[in-house]
Amino acid sequence: MSPQLFDFAQVRADFPILATEVRGKPLTYLDNAATGQKPQLVIDAIERYYATENSNIHRGVHYLSECATDAYEAARTKVASFIGASDADEVVFTRGTTESINLVAHGFVETILKEGDEIVISHMEHHANIVPWQIASQKTGAVLKVVPVDERGVLDMAAFEQMLSDKTKLVAITHISNALGTINPIERIIRKAHALNVPVLIDGAQSTPHMPVDVSALDCDFFVFSGHKIFGPTGIGVLWGKREWLERLPPYQSGGDMIEKVDFEGTTYKGIPGKFEAGTPHIEGVIGMAAAIDYLQSMDRVGALAHESALLTDATEKLSAIEGMRLIGTAPEKASVISFLINDIHPHDIGTFLDADGVAVRAGHHCTQPLLKRFGVPATARASFAFYNNFEDVDRLVTAVQKMQRFFG
Ligand code: ALA
Repeated sequence: MSPQLFDFAQVRADFPILATEVRGKPLTYLDNAATGQKPQLVIDAIERYYATENSNIHRGVHYLSECATDAYEAARTKVASFIGASDADEVVFTRGTTESINLVAHGFVETILKEGDEIVISHMEHHANIVPWQIASQKTGAVLKVVPVDERGVLDMAAFEQMLSDKTKLVAITHISNALGTINPIERIIRKAHALNVPVLIDGAQSTPHMPVDVSALDCDFFVFSGHKIFGPTGIGVLWGKREWLERLPPYQSGGDMIEKVDFEGTTYKGIPGKFEAGTPHIEGVIGMAAAIDYLQSMDRVGALAHESALLTDATEKLSAIEGMRLIGTAPEKASVISFLINDIHPHDIGTFLDADGVAVRAGHHCTQPLLKRFGVPATARASFAFYNNFEDVDRLVTAVQKMQRFFG
């Protein structure tokens, strides 16, 4: 498909769920940081796969198995092009961002980390980029260093630079904060870490839905993201890693398909990426994710990002004008995520109240408990926009929040 100019009115028509009602009201879906909705093209690709191609991959010599294998491997090439990687073998399919990070953490425990080594993460990480490194530290005696964030939710880069040393074995950092929307200066982070030969893992779960990413230009060492957040199916994700790193890490899970030869005297493994893909994979997920990538690549993504920024600006201005509003996360570089609190209304009550008006937001700690603790709150309500949202969605959110504010007095 050739890229089309971004037309968000047309784009909405591609997502059947956006035309539905919830609780008797038109759906205003503002929980995109949790998961994206699926265009018809993705739904069709999955249906077509099961209706015409369903078979196991890499195993059969029959026609359907060849079709499924071709589709699965073509998806790997598509993912590589989506993130600017030149070598499709560097793309490993996983269950999602969480499993991708766990795979790398497991490999670092087995082959790299030892007592006294350091891993640098930030205070704004999702639990998926905290807990695997905590466990890795417990197992090896390595030390977890946490880069602080300021009142706006901006990383303290001076502290980051001071934390880097010859003890640092990895920097694992999010591209965009799921709870605050902060866009981190990952180019600078990667450059500074590489100056000390420290590899960098970028959590792209929240950036891939919003902006084009080029791992070759970034020169990061690992990049991870989830299919469902880029408008594909759940249960599928990607670990991209530089060849030399993936070759250095041991298998994560073991069993069928990841082996070259099995003998009771010893087993040899496939090269990358096969050695990391044990068992029958999520073939349907891979095919659906490839369709989602087709969809994104057919769009004017720069125009989509500009549209999302306009939604963010509009929503931020209108919500800020509401009495008692507190925005958590006011970084100058922000993706279209707004975490907020109003007076002392519990975020769960905010979520429930908005839901009654058909407005879907997330309420809770957003899997970022240390970050919210830093802001002195246990939870927030969070509205997160995608390219298919429009200014009417912003107005529905604002009207529902105003109504709630009047209700709670
Ligand atoms: N990580 C997802 C979120 O931020 C689930 O909501």
